[in-house]
Amino acid sequence: MQDLYGTTSLIAGGSSGIGRAVAGLLVARGGEVILAARQQERLELAMKELGPAARARALDITDFAGIERLAESLPPASVDHLFITAATLAHGPFASLPVAEAQAMFQSKLWGGYALCKAMLPRMRSGGSITLVSGVLSRRPAVNCAALGAVCAAVEALARGLALELGPELRVNCIAPGMVRSPLHDRLPEARREAAFAATGASLPVGRVGRPCEVAQAAVMAATNGYMTGAVIDVDGGHMVRQYAAAGQSTNEDTALGAGQPRPIQPLRRNHQTSPSASASMPARTAG
Ligand SMILES: NC(=O)c1ccc[n+]([C@@H]2O[C@H](COP(=O)([O-])OP(=O)(O)OC[C@H]3O[C@@H](n4cnc5c(N)ncnc54)[C@H](OP(=O)(O)O)[C@@H]3O)[C@@H](O)[C@H]2O)c1
Repeated sequence: MQDLYGTTSLIAGGSSGIGRAVAGLLVARGGEVILAARQQERLELAMKELGPAARARALDITDFAGIERLAESLPPASVDHLFITAATLAHGPFASLPVAEAQAMFQSKLWGGYALCKAMLPRMRSGGSITLVSGVLSRRPAVNCAALGAVCAAVEALARGLALELGPELRVNCIAPGMVRSPLHDRLPEARREAAFAATGASLPVGRVGRPCEVAQAAVMAATNGYMTGAVIDVDGGHMVRQYAAAGQSTNEDTALGAGQPRPIQPLRRNHQTSPSASASMPARTAG
């Protein structure tokens, strides 16, 4: 299916994880992509994998002057879809997490996205879209993640406000992922990371954590569905409806970024830890 032939998308955060998976889906459908992130090496690797439909630009989304330079380097009305997955996160106990670290997270995940949307307005084609990324913590908090939840809620509010203000020329939506197995979690030691994935997965109705391509599918759908705007789409394995912890059970003894988890109580359905139908439908190039 080449239905995105002739379209150009800018993906801030397109060199890794969810953004990289979005790029893979767009290119597979004939679109061209501009990947923007900080590390040149990862950008080059992604470009090599994606082929000639992909270009790259260096961007630190916390650098507003750099955002302006990127936008100004693009021709007017040349970008159809803007995706913003770039963010540097911070989590930790409220009492000890330095305010500066929480502020730095807001600077990237909220203000960076805000500034990029604003700078890109003259570069967006009428009929296009903006897709932001928040996280389930916006509405289902976890211990050690108060600031992360707050920034996710702010991103969702921004998406709704922009949808109202920028329509009908542009549609704006937000994707709220639950825990996804992406390089975001690589900074955790492997054993701890796998334990967090396993514990979170076991607490979810789907029995596992997500893949970047599963979130990317929703992002591309939101970007291309002409009747969708102002929506916050949960792609979270059922995180919002998962079981509450029973009295006496500890919660959230290990919190990885984006999803704290209660210990599961008597899981009823553990017979589909991996969903063949889900994995079968994922393009190999974007499988996380
Ligand atoms: N993975 C999860 O479990 C999960 C759950 C809920 C929500 N989310 C949200 O989903 C989004 C994407 O996460 P992911 O899992 O795809 O993360 P990821 O694999 O770590 O990818 C993050 C991307 O953003 C770029 N980036 C980070 N900081 C940047 C900055 N200051 N300026 C420009 N680019 C920057 C990174 O490249 P460089 O480092 O080279 O700049 C990379 O391309 C984030 O907003 C995250 O909060 C993720």
